[in-house]
Amino acid sequence: MTDQHGTTAVLTGPANGMPTQWWRTAVIYQIYVRSFADADSDGIGDLAGVRGKLDYLAELGVDAVWLTPFYVSPMVDGGYDVADYRAVDPIFGDLDDAKGLIGDAHERGLRVIVDIVPNHTSSAHRWFREAVAAPAGSPARERYLLRDGKGGGGGVAPNDWESVFGGPAWTRVTEPDGTAGQWYLHLFDPEQPDLNWENPEVHAEFEDILRFWLDLGVDGFRIDVAHGMVKAEGLPDTGTIDQIALLGSAELPYFDQDGVHEIYRRWRGILDSYPGERIGVAEAWAPDADRLAHYLRPDELHQAFNFHYVQTDWSAADLRSVIDASLESAGRVGAPSTWVLSNHDLARHVTRYGDGEVGLRRARAAALLNLALPGSVYVYQGEELGLPEVTDLPDEAIADPRWERSGRTERGRDGCRVPIPWSGESAPFGFSTDASASPWLPQPDRWAGLSVAAQQDDPSSILSLYRDALRLRAELDELKTAPLHWFSEPGAQVLMFGRGDRFTCAVNFGPDPVELDVTGDVLLASDPRLRSHGGRGSVTLPADTAMWWRVTEGA
Ligand code: GLC
Repeated sequence: MTDQHGTTAVLTGPANGMPTQWWRTAVIYQIYVRSFADADSDGIGDLAGVRGKLDYLAELGVDAVWLTPFYVSPMVDGGYDVADYRAVDPIFGDLDDAKGLIGDAHERGLRVIVDIVPNHTSSAHRWFREAVAAPAGSPARERYLLRDGKGGGGGVAPNDWESVFGGPAWTRVTEPDGTAGQWYLHLFDPEQPDLNWENPEVHAEFEDILRFWLDLGVDGFRIDVAHGMVKAEGLPDTGTIDQIALLGSAELPYFDQDGVHEIYRRWRGILDSYPGERIGVAEAWAPDADRLAHYLRPDELHQAFNFHYVQTDWSAADLRSVIDASLESAGRVGAPSTWVLSNHDLARHVTRYGDGEVGLRRARAAALLNLALPGSVYVYQGEELGLPEVTDLPDEAIADPRWERSGRTERGRDGCRVPIPWSGESAPFGFSTDASASPWLPQPDRWAGLSVAAQQDDPSSILSLYRDALRLRAELDELKTAPLHWFSEPGAQVLMFGRGDRFTCAVNFGPDPVELDVTGDVLLASDPRLRSHGGRGSVTLPADTAMWWRVTEGA
């Protein structure tokens, strides 16, 4: 069945035509396509691989998947350097694979969000090739940010901006006549030139790219570097020495400029013109929760990643204040908060939370905390398996451009991108269909016990915990609708809160066990030894443990 957009199998709201606003409470699973499942055994994950694992995702109980870029790319930055936004890179498959994946996902009730990378293209993009081949001042150059250098002969970069990956954010081009010429801006790798969002042609092109994927049936976009597209008038110096603060709270002339919001107002109009509640999700590193909420105004985007939450340590007081600030600021603009612990750019949270037994224990508790909070939750592939960061990748395996750009001082983000272990006792652990294939990053032998096959029938595994929690979250209406109310006092080592009258969650951040009196049944505990507890009367909640209750007579 197709509609006026030629879209197949759209997931629409309930039959009465009322919007479901599915995105307000959705659990969205991030797939780093390169590392998820490799159907053609070249060692690199692909769309056919993802398609083959949709049943796994449906059984896990997530509502949607977000696929990282699978477009034609030289893969300098894992595909965040796009050379053709309307075509699939051959290493990932082709457009038919993308269409088949969208259709198969929709059949299982899973929505599909794709990445869009509008801040920069690849230097292999036709536009950039045209820009460097054309003379200074020509329309082809106006699509990017090319400027004359400073100093005699223009040999000094136009300003003091630094690349997020290290080194200056400007590279000088060699003009067609062989002389050293203008400089172009790249907030990331030199092979990722920034687009000029003052140019209407850039707007028109991206609006057309949005429509291309919406017509193919995608349910939304994760917008890469959503806070970066507009730069301050005149590209002024920052005057600071410590700019490499993508994750920081500094105010910089190339991030979070007010002009970006105009772009999202137009994009929202496009999203809303399609049936089935298509959404936009901002990857925006705004200085604080209030600035982040600007991206979520009713005529802009639907969600933004909550990076302030990610950056918070395992501390009851700190998490409570970030939870309150997030709910308050998003709530003020009528938007849902999001809760995210890991992604393809950050060290995995098992490791951030202390690694080993402690890290895993806390990660299990954090899963129950996240899934009990009001809003939408992101799960990064492998988080449901309790995968830790791989910190001992051999130098020669490292592919992240940050490694070379930092003069080999920062190992970068590959440790959270190691291919998923699905089954078996040794690499490739079922990641590649053919057991003799070598995954693009080596998987540690110690991962055998963490594979999906090793965990799926074990009720005490973290995979079972995620499945159980997701099932309960889907069943309990208050987890979708009821606001959060705190029971614990600020400053306590336990976070304890209710959603509605009949659901309570408590998380003990330690160091000591805590006695809690909740009248009700234990629904789930992050420590599997506590799951069978009847829950009547007082319960001892050990350190780094979370519990959910069905309350029978008020907490
Ligand atoms: C985003 C992506 C990251 C990429 C960068 C440049 O932060 O998540 O992986 O390197 O943008 O596109």
